[in-house]
Amino acid sequence: MAIERTLSMIKPDAVAKNVIGEIYSRFEKAGLRIVAAKMQQLSVEQAAKFYEVHSERPFYQELIDFMTSGPVMIQVLEGENAIALNRELMGATFPKDAEAGSIRADFCDADGDQGENAVHGSDAAETAADEIPFFFSAEELCARLR
Ligand code: CDP
Ligand code: MG
Repeated sequence: MAIERTLSMIKPDAVAKNVIGEIYSRFEKAGLRIVAAKMQQLSVEQAAKFYEVHSERPFYQELIDFMTSGPVMIQVLEGENAIALNRELMGATFPKDAEAGSIRADFCDADGDQGENAVHGSDAAETAADEIPFFFSAEELCARLR
């Protein structure tokens, strides 16, 4: 296994629930280090571009509306196997299917809008390589040397 970096977002539903710190704790307790972070209100254009891969899907407009409904907390997580580890911490896409103890199981309403699932995480090395520079310049990524 290698040290990887992955793009993580705490979505507007979880920011509104005021659980940024609790979700950060999950990352840190799992051994992931935050090497960049910022809160941002996404524009419609940014959300549309970030999720462009889903532009033909029926839920695309709803996803953009949701992702621009309030600020998101965006971070780069670093650690051994960070991409898959973060996906494991997140749980399955729909909160009703998310594994017990996962972020999506613990911070989402299983009976609510299935798209309102608290977190985003890059799903592969190639995705992380596109998604990290989408939000952060090289100078904004900090080396954690101590
Ligand atoms: O976020 P994840 O990689 O688990 O799922 P995705 O398939 O890449 O979908 C991106 C996001 O679109 C999801 O996290 C949901 O917020 C939303 N979505 C939705 O609203 N309805 C669907 N049928 C599928 C996804
Ligand atoms: Mg995805």
